[in-house]
Amino acid sequence: MTPLIDYHRDQELALIGLANAPVNALGHALRQALAEACSTAANDPHVRAIVLYGLDLPFSAGADISEFGSPLTWQTPSLPDLLPELAQIDKPLVAAIDGVALGGGLELALVCSHRVAVTSARLGLPEVTLGVIPGAGGTQRLPRLIGVEAALDMMLGGQPISAQRGHELGLIDCLVEQRHALLESACGFARQLLADQSPARRHRPAPAQAPSADFFQAQQAQLTARKPGQLAPQMVLDAVRAACELNLSEGLAYEQALFRKALQSPQALALRHQFFAKNEALKIPGIDRSTPLRPINRVAVVGAGTMGGGIAMNFVNAGIAVTLLELSPQALDRGLAQIRKNYESSRQRGKITEAQLEQRMALLHGTLDYADLADADLVIEAVFENLEVKQQVFRTLDEVCKPGAILASNTSTLDVDQIAAVTRRPQDVVGLHFFSPANVMRLLEVVRGAATAADVLATTLNIAKRIDKLPVVSGVCFGFIGNRMLEPYAREAHRLVLEGATPAQVDGVLTGIGLAMGVFAMYDLAGIDIGYQVRQARSEYIAHDPSYFRLADELCSLGRHGQKSGRGFYRYEGRERLDDPEVVEIAERLAAELGIERRSISDQEIHDRCLFMLINEGLQLLDEGIALRSGDVDLVWTNGYGFPAWRGGPLHYAEHLGLNAVLAGIEHYREALGAYGQMWLQSAPLLERLVARQHTLIAQR
Ligand code: CAA
Repeated sequence: MTPLIDYHRDQELALIGLANAPVNALGHALRQALAEACSTAANDPHVRAIVLYGLDLPFSAGADISEFGSPLTWQTPSLPDLLPELAQIDKPLVAAIDGVALGGGLELALVCSHRVAVTSARLGLPEVTLGVIPGAGGTQRLPRLIGVEAALDMMLGGQPISAQRGHELGLIDCLVEQRHALLESACGFARQLLADQSPARRHRPAPAQAPSADFFQAQQAQLTARKPGQLAPQMVLDAVRAACELNLSEGLAYEQALFRKALQSPQALALRHQFFAKNEALKIPGIDRSTPLRPINRVAVVGAGTMGGGIAMNFVNAGIAVTLLELSPQALDRGLAQIRKNYESSRQRGKITEAQLEQRMALLHGTLDYADLADADLVIEAVFENLEVKQQVFRTLDEVCKPGAILASNTSTLDVDQIAAVTRRPQDVVGLHFFSPANVMRLLEVVRGAATAADVLATTLNIAKRIDKLPVVSGVCFGFIGNRMLEPYAREAHRLVLEGATPAQVDGVLTGIGLAMGVFAMYDLAGIDIGYQVRQARSEYIAHDPSYFRLADELCSLGRHGQKSGRGFYRYEGRERLDDPEVVEIAERLAAELGIERRSISDQEIHDRCLFMLINEGLQLLDEGIALRSGDVDLVWTNGYGFPAWRGGPLHYAEHLGLNAVLAGIEHYREALGAYGQMWLQSAPLLERLVARQHTLIAQR
């Protein structure tokens, strides 16, 4: 046997241990070894039952994603060929599941006759998150086993369920509390099946039962509304419908045809790019496993506003004590009350218990005294976005914090080096840009200052994982990766409204390609006054263009601050967003004042100007070394700004459109827009170089 499989006999049982570290991905070599091992066990007359398990590893994380797009996926034995063969073995086959059984891993468990799992194991069919559908029987076998609705939930949501839930659904036959007892319990379970003379197989070839006559129609309507343009969820629905209409072998053939189509789609390519970008993002030059980590047991947060409170909740949720500092007792009480309110609403929604709520609140300690921060291992400043204010906080932290404490700023735009410079320990200073709401959004921009020490960066990346964030490292510049790219993108959107588009038209084009929100809906949500303050601090940079964000500035001066004041780029009735003709009138007036000729603007122009300038800035960030890889830029935008993951992120989207088309578009508008075009629409040198060298992928730079 190959080292990928550990095969041994224990009396009448064959034990087959999968040993493909780290996650038992079912790559070609493992499939081959598994096929051989199962065939040996099936043909051995002394073997009466088989137990499959992960040898000190998770059961299996499914198909090897790195093989997708290469011929290896289909090389014999392919997963869709192998699993039906295992399903034919006329002996009980017990899957012993620890860790995860995901995708093809769960499909492997589904062709076993029985499944035993550790309570902590997670089971799922996350294929839609990779732009494909379960391609080795999952769409046909799962609905037959646990019912159409539960199976669809798992496949459309893509989120794993607990083994406990799997047991309730009939997916797991037996739960085991202790991980170390799994194999023994699974063997005991198999022996009991033999003793009971249970049939070796529980065949379910008949079609699954649709819950109601109009079930699929209703699901279709929901899908069209919630996931427009997304291929894989639609295919999941089609495949499950087939599970209700066709026999098993016909259903499997139908699933296979859909899977192959999905695998080749641009959406699957984009989502694979996202998957690998997440792992790559943690790989930072100069940092590896040997980089020491500083212990983080006590955290302090300066500022108990919306941001500070949300940041504190992340740590408390992970069981880490937090000291929360405010300047006045009123502000502190307000902040703590808001946190309790947030937890209260989680409790009402059944997300946490009353006991958990109290445990979390008990980990929070409010203070008005900086001296209480003396023993913190990590302090995160979350005060007003103003350089002097933040520098003052850091001067004080430098006085009171113990040596070696990590001092982090939650600035979203300011120069981390200028903040670090007011301390005597710039090597301990780092930027931690959380996104609002900080307790919900997973993205965390980790800003590496010029002096930030390697162990400080390594520690912050490690702590980000502990609090379940997705960290992306950025260098220092205005706005880091995300907000710096937002600036030219939103600038074009604002200018287009002065030139004749409406906010709703611009937002419609952006949501039309899958963005969660258009620019103007986003500004209304964030508060138009916030952007105004940021621009005030940069007035010399923008003084040459009187049209620059002029509409937003005007709305701000009129007290139209967005959703919170009931009016902004739109008008709000409750939570309903409505077009406001007054905004168009304001835009007309401003255009006249600025001498901008109004015209009818095409959707294509909106798309090209907003998105090409977004892409252009992302490329510039790469060229400057602020972002390390295009995947990092893409992760920031898909996780922080609602860019659709199934388009891969702005830079992956640029490759899809064609880098030459992006460059040609920028050059076209640079000419067509006269002085304005000359002022702002300058193509990034990296884009020009890539196109000149006929590169189609940014990684070829
Ligand atoms: N294929 C290839 N590599 C995989 C993999 C997979 N299915 N799952 C994880 N890996 C790799 C990761 O890329 C990572 O590699 P590096 O160390 O080189 O960066 C390594 O395994 C460890 O992964 P994580 O760092 O993510 O480890 P974790 O402990 O935090 O999480 C996990 C483990 C929960 C399994 C997580 O990796 C995960 O969710 N993986 C994806 C699972 C998945 O989507 N499976 C479905 C595959 S599609 C399919 O199966 C189609 C089908 O129906 C035939």
